[in-house]
Amino acid sequence: MSATIIDGKVMAAAVRDEVAARVSELTAAGIKPGLGAVLCGDNPGSATYVRSKGRLAQELGIHFDLRTPAADSSTADILGLVRDLNEDDSIDGILVQLPLPAQIDTDLVLDATRPDKDADGLHPFNFGRLAQGAPSPVVPCTPSGCMELLRRHHVPLRGARAVVVGRSALVGRPMAMLLLNADCTVTICHSRTSDLAGVCAEADILVAAIGRPGMITAAHVKPGACVIDVGINRVDGALRGDVDRASVEPVAGWLTPVPGGVGPMTVAMLMHNTVALCAARRGSGVPAGSH
Ligand code: GUN
Repeated sequence: MSATIIDGKVMAAAVRDEVAARVSELTAAGIKPGLGAVLCGDNPGSATYVRSKGRLAQELGIHFDLRTPAADSSTADILGLVRDLNEDDSIDGILVQLPLPAQIDTDLVLDATRPDKDADGLHPFNFGRLAQGAPSPVVPCTPSGCMELLRRHHVPLRGARAVVVGRSALVGRPMAMLLLNADCTVTICHSRTSDLAGVCAEADILVAAIGRPGMITAAHVKPGACVIDVGINRVDGALRGDVDRASVEPVAGWLTPVPGGVGPMTVAMLMHNTVALCAARRGSGVPAGSH
């Protein structure tokens, strides 16, 4: 058996078409959705991600307002930018690219974003709604992109054993909550988990979000399992996931590649969130859509 490779580029194109249709509805009602982004620091990965977010926003007819404060900015400087974007009526979604430089208090910055403009779903209000299992217009982009990949490939979720490796606020924790809300039985693993391979090998759905290239091997994978690789690691100039593809592909039932798996979905889901926030805040009469 060899895994079905889940093509994130094809899936992301489908999400983008749906978003484009909703942008057209809003535009017809005289509303142009807007996304404000804050990129602070010299992280080359962050700059690449934000560039691709800006490119897609513009392709879709979403106004993109990029702020690039100096790497030595203070927390107060960043809070000032977030407040500007909060008050700007042409901005529906705000994205503060993470990680921020070490001198900046990331929690304060995320807390300062208006919850109804929180394009990343990282504000404690929206995160709390997710934890409660309550409906929310915004869910963090990478985990919601993973859920779209699972749903669009009809991977059985109800009652499935799901294991998430990684407990970050950006991916691992919200991913576990989304799987739980989809009726999976969920285990979260991390760097202190004992017998990691044994726990992972019980999973019908295994999500690797650890940030360690090639760490998940065939020994971690139950035959036929769906393996979602969230890792984006730069190794000798190339991108590598957290999953050792050569070892896992013959065992898994489904596998997301790196690059071309989860990455394109993250960007597409950010546009989805921005348009959903726009419709909810300004688009009375224009359907908000759901995911
Ligand atoms: N850094 C890496 N991924 C993300 C993301 O999805 N959102 C933000 N804000 N920062 C990131």
